[in-house]
Amino acid sequence: MFETLKKAPVDKIFALLGEFRADPRPEKMDLGIGVYKDASNNTPVMRAVTKVEQQMLDEQTTKTYVGVTGNRGYCDAVVDLIFGDSIDLDRVASVQAPGGTGSLWVIIQLLNRARPGGKVWISDPSWPNHWPMMELAGLNPQSYPYFDPETRQVRFEEMMAHLDQLGPDDIVLLHGCCHNPTGANLTPEQWDVVADSLKRTGAFPLIDLAYLGFGDGLETDAYGVRKIAQTCPEAMVGFSASKNFGLYRERAGVAIAIGKDKDQAAIVLSQMGNVIRASFSQSPDHGAEIVRRILTDKALRAEWEKELGEMRDHMLRNRQKLAASMRKQSNSDEFDFIAEHRGMFSLLGLSKEQVEKLKEEHGIYIIDDSRVNIAGVPEDNTDALAEALIGVTR
Ligand code: LMR
Repeated sequence: MFETLKKAPVDKIFALLGEFRADPRPEKMDLGIGVYKDASNNTPVMRAVTKVEQQMLDEQTTKTYVGVTGNRGYCDAVVDLIFGDSIDLDRVASVQAPGGTGSLWVIIQLLNRARPGGKVWISDPSWPNHWPMMELAGLNPQSYPYFDPETRQVRFEEMMAHLDQLGPDDIVLLHGCCHNPTGANLTPEQWDVVADSLKRTGAFPLIDLAYLGFGDGLETDAYGVRKIAQTCPEAMVGFSASKNFGLYRERAGVAIAIGKDKDQAAIVLSQMGNVIRASFSQSPDHGAEIVRRILTDKALRAEWEKELGEMRDHMLRNRQKLAASMRKQSNSDEFDFIAEHRGMFSLLGLSKEQVEKLKEEHGIYIIDDSRVNIAGVPEDNTDALAEALIGVTR
């Protein structure tokens, strides 16, 4: 059996984490994998989460099955968090899924049933797992222009020239906010243009929403996904609670479909349930129940939003301080884009050799496309990081 197999390619994000953990140098710096870190370089359990976990320990009397489509209160609370009253909820079908990746998995299985082998247009560049996920599901990944490495901004005209030519059989994968890996995001006006184009061409929007609340705030970050759902007759959204609730290993996600009407939503719900049952039967409940309890309790929700705001402020301060250090040390405004980008990442524009040098000479780990995790930047020592970054480029 196994003689037919070759070694599979490693996922570069988790491979780098392994390398970082094995590095004995005390001054090493992990700016690779997308996990939030506070000023002490910890990835904390959020305060509201700790409280709710204690509650659950005291109150839960069973671990029996929840059901194939998952914790309904959780799914409804997440749908409400994303959409508020911006759309008619009769159009919405949602199922619990294991994390953001799990929610995308359920979605793309369903899309492959609707359009077997269909083209999925992915931004260039994108999260490195998007492409292999589409291939594994049997879909056909293709790329559309997104990021200009010269300006470090979105190539919006080229992107639109591409999207405007698509048709009803095409699927367009969009990052709802906080683009991974670039940090360059669409403005509200640009989202309006994208939504109109998708409505006109009939191309199907699939939104990856893994960083809601990490950019400019929960409401502002939801602008794009709301606009698409209001404008287009159909869409799907993969939501992750890994980052904004700090629940990485608990795998809490939601796969959401917005249909033309209630009847269509019911069909899609049954299909998503069918995919789940045949894939992993149902999702782990612990993280989902934590999120449900936080979002449906006024005091806990306020506490969570406050901490989420603190996390966002920390990343914004890191952006400003690193951009200021880069300006000072490079004597140029070339890296000012770091302060303008939003979310957890910025793509710095270093070559693979320069990224390797950072790791070898300074113990600074960033992804090989030069994506840097802004949350991991040492807030009080951005000068040293800037010196190393500029050092390897000279
Ligand atoms: C990342 O991009 O680093 C995170 O989303 C973690 C992951 O699963 O890749």
